[in-house]
Amino acid sequence: TVLVVDFGAQYAQLIARRVRECHVYSEIVPSTMTAAEMLAKRPKAIILSGGPSSVYEEGAPNAPDGLFDLGVPTFGICYGHQVMAQALGGTVENSNVAEFGGATVAVTSPGMLFAGLPHEQAVWMSHRDFVSQAPSGFEVTASTDVTPVAGMEDRERGFFGVQFHPEVMHTEHGMELLRRFLYEGAGCRPNWTMVNIADESIEAVRRQVGTKRAICGLSGGVDSAVAAALVQRAIGDQLTCVFVDHGLLRKGEAEQVEKDFVAATGVNLHVVDAQERFLAALDGVADPEQKRKIIGREFIRVFEEAARQVVGEDAAEPVEFLVQGTLYPDVVESGGGTGAANIKSHHNVGGLPDDLQFQLVEPLRTLFKDEVRALGEQLGLPSEIVWRQPFPGPGLGIRIVGAVTKERLDILRDADFIARTELSNAGLDRDIWQFPVVLLADVRSVGVQGDSRTYGHPIVLRPVTSEDAMTADWAKLPYELLQRISTRITNEVREINRVTVDITSKPPGTIEWE
Ligand code: XMP
Repeated sequence: TVLVVDFGAQYAQLIARRVRECHVYSEIVPSTMTAAEMLAKRPKAIILSGGPSSVYEEGAPNAPDGLFDLGVPTFGICYGHQVMAQALGGTVENSNVAEFGGATVAVTSPGMLFAGLPHEQAVWMSHRDFVSQAPSGFEVTASTDVTPVAGMEDRERGFFGVQFHPEVMHTEHGMELLRRFLYEGAGCRPNWTMVNIADESIEAVRRQVGTKRAICGLSGGVDSAVAAALVQRAIGDQLTCVFVDHGLLRKGEAEQVEKDFVAATGVNLHVVDAQERFLAALDGVADPEQKRKIIGREFIRVFEEAARQVVGEDAAEPVEFLVQGTLYPDVVESGGGTGAANIKSHHNVGGLPDDLQFQLVEPLRTLFKDEVRALGEQLGLPSEIVWRQPFPGPGLGIRIVGAVTKERLDILRDADFIARTELSNAGLDRDIWQFPVVLLADVRSVGVQGDSRTYGHPIVLRPVTSEDAMTADWAKLPYELLQRISTRITNEVREINRVTVDITSKPPGTIEWE
C-alpha cells in the first residue's frame, strides 16, 4: 500500500489514481492520522499531497509527528514538498509572486527522479509559498526562475519532493517521476492489476457471504452492474438482482439490463415494472428537489417490496446481504467530512439506505470509476454497459424542466437517442464525460417547420468533459456534429423546434439542469 496523505482540496484523489495507474495500490488517509496508525497499514511509501494552505497559516495541516522517522520512503508534492522541507529543517518562504499554471523547470542535478530526462521540462505549478532552502542532506534537483528548490531529494533517507504537480497531465514527465519514486525510490512492484483485483474481490465476497443469500439493486448504471457481475461470479445463484423500471430511463436501457446484462452474466433477475407508479407519484410536480425526493422514496418502497417477494415466505433462507456499487470517491468524501454544501440531494437511486436490515457487500469501495470500468471489462460485461456515461439515479425525471409526463418522457427519449447515436457515430463517446439532453417542457417558442408555424419546445444539449463530476467543462463538440444532431432532432421529434447548446462550465452551472 501507498498512503496518500490528504492536505485538502481533492489533490489527493488524483494522486491516488495516478499511483494506481502505475499498478500500485494506494489509499487516501487524512493528514490528522497519526504516524503510528499509518505505520499499522504497513505502507511501502507515503505521498504528501498538495493542498490549499500555506504552512504559515494558523491551523494549516501539518505532517503527523514522527512521520519522517518511520523509515518509509516519502514523496512530497507541492504543499507536501513544503511541509517536508519545513519539517526537516529547510526554509519555506512567502512570496508575493504566485506561480500558477504552466512553467518550465530546469534540472539542476538529475538525482534519481530526473535521471536521463530532458534538462528543461514543462510542469504545472500552483503555489505562492516556496522552498528557498532545502534541508541538509538534500540535493536540489530542479528549479525555476521564481522557485529555487522546485525539486529535491535525499536518496539516503528515501525523501523526495517537487514543488509542481506530477499528477496532472500538463506536467510532461509527471508519470515518469511518479513511477521512479514508486519503483526505484520505494521498491514498489506493479502488481495492482485487474486480474488480481478481480480474483481478490471475488474471494473476499465469498468469504463475507459464505453460503448466505444476497440481493442487488440494478440501476442500469456501470457501478451496480459491475458490482452485481462480480458478486455473481463469487456466489452464483445465491445472488438475486432486482431491477426497478421506473420509466425514467433512456431509450433501450431497460432492455440492456434485461437482455444484455443477463446474457453476459447469467444472473438471476427480478424485474419490477413500476412505470405507472412513478408517473402517478410525480404527477404535476415541477420542483426539482421535490421530484428527487419522490423518486428516491418510491424507489426504496418498490425495492423493499421486491426484496420481500424475492425472499418469499420461506424464511428458512432469508436474504442477509445487500450488494451496493459504492465507489472509493464516495467513501473518501463521506469520511472526509469537509462539510461540503448540499447542492442537490443525491439519492443515488440503485443505492439504498442501509437501514434496510441487510449487511452491506460493497466490492467496489476501494475503486475509482475508471478501475470499475476496467474491472467490468475483465468480467466480460458488454462495452455498452461498461462504457455507459454516468446517469443520475432520478433519470430523465430531472432532465425535464417542468412536470414529468409520459408524453414528455417520450419526446426526451427520442431526442436523447438521436444525440447519443450521433455522438457514437462520430466516435466521440469516450471523450465526453456525460451528455445530458434536457427538455425545457414549460418553455415554448415560435418556429417554422414545413412551411407552417410551430409553437414547440426547446431541447438543450449539455455535453461536458470532466474527471470526476465535481467540476466540468462544456465540451467543444465539432460544429458538423452539432449540426447533424440539431437537424435530426428538429426533423424527427415533432414537438421540438429549437436545439440549443449549454456552454456553461461547472461551477457555476451543475452538470444536470435540476
Ligand atoms: P451535478 O448536476 O450535481 O451532477 O453537476 C454531478 C454528477 O452526479 C450525477 N447526479 C446524480 N447521480 N443520483 C445519482 O446517482 C442523483 O440524484 C444525481 N444527481 C446528479 C450527474 O449526472 C453527474 O454525473
